[in-house]
Amino acid sequence: MKSLLRAAKRQLLAYPFFPALNLPFRAFDTWRRYIGPTTGNWLRWLFASRADSNFTYHLTDRCRVNLIASVASLLAKDFTEIERYFNEIESDNAFDAHMRALWRSHPERYRTDETPLIGRRVVWYAVARTTKPKVIVETGVDQGIGAVVLCAALARNTDDGHPGRYFGTDINPNAGFYLKGDYAKFGSVLYGDSISSLTTLNETIDLFVNDSDHSADYEEAEYRTVANKLAPAAIVLGDNSHVTSKLAEFSVREGRKFVFLAEEPRDHWYRGAGIGLSLP
Ligand SMILES: C[S@@+](CC[C@H](N)C(=O)[O-])C[C@H]1O[C@@H](n2cnc3c(N)ncnc32)[C@H](O)[C@@H]1O
Repeated sequence: MKSLLRAAKRQLLAYPFFPALNLPFRAFDTWRRYIGPTTGNWLRWLFASRADSNFTYHLTDRCRVNLIASVASLLAKDFTEIERYFNEIESDNAFDAHMRALWRSHPERYRTDETPLIGRRVVWYAVARTTKPKVIVETGVDQGIGAVVLCAALARNTDDGHPGRYFGTDINPNAGFYLKGDYAKFGSVLYGDSISSLTTLNETIDLFVNDSDHSADYEEAEYRTVANKLAPAAIVLGDNSHVTSKLAEFSVREGRKFVFLAEEPRDHWYRGAGIGLSLP
């Protein structure tokens, strides 16, 4: 039947009425393969999740392998070493327990999911574990999922003899809810406008994560502000690189390498963000 349809299609391809004839087939096929599954995920998510922004999800297995291999290539490490870091945070019971325990008293728990899914932040963790930064700056802390992930990396780096400090920035005075307890020993949030905080920050930055105001101009301004504070081997991660090309442009201007790593959420309607990774 399928081959008959295909043969008929080949015969009709050259006629001007073909687009009208082909439309229902295109509609059916794209619904079945793309729109339907996404709509199904969206409907399930509406009821299963409470999140209304900064969505959280698992990554697909193939995305995870692609990310591990990409990070390993970029940092010139073995796949197994980077995979170990992915496994480390993904199976970190202390991290999981910390987030779940705090969620119970979270003033925003009715718009926040209990299960702490870190998505692309697993790459932030692996980069921090691999490069052992002395100073990490993350602009845009929000509830503090990234902050805790990065401080978990600093905690293990400290155990390995490579201590480091985390500085978050956020304009929201309530940001950083999850950055408490043992994780807060490794860093704190600088409240106020990120550019102002970065301007007064008197530190040499080894790992910079941009995730605050996601307008292109603001993102660019952050890179310009930290340009002369970056350590020679500093890595810059852009959480807005699926939206703008500002980190790529900054990297070209500064003679740095740039790659874009795409995120692929599992069983989620969100198409995924990406990670811009800029390195010397
Ligand atoms: C996408 S969220 C950050 C998510 C966080 N990095 C994480 O891992 O979950 C963006 C945050 O940027 C903050 N923000 C927006 N504009 C800002 C500004 N001009 N200065 C500092 N923070 C800002 C918002 O308050 C918000 O908490």
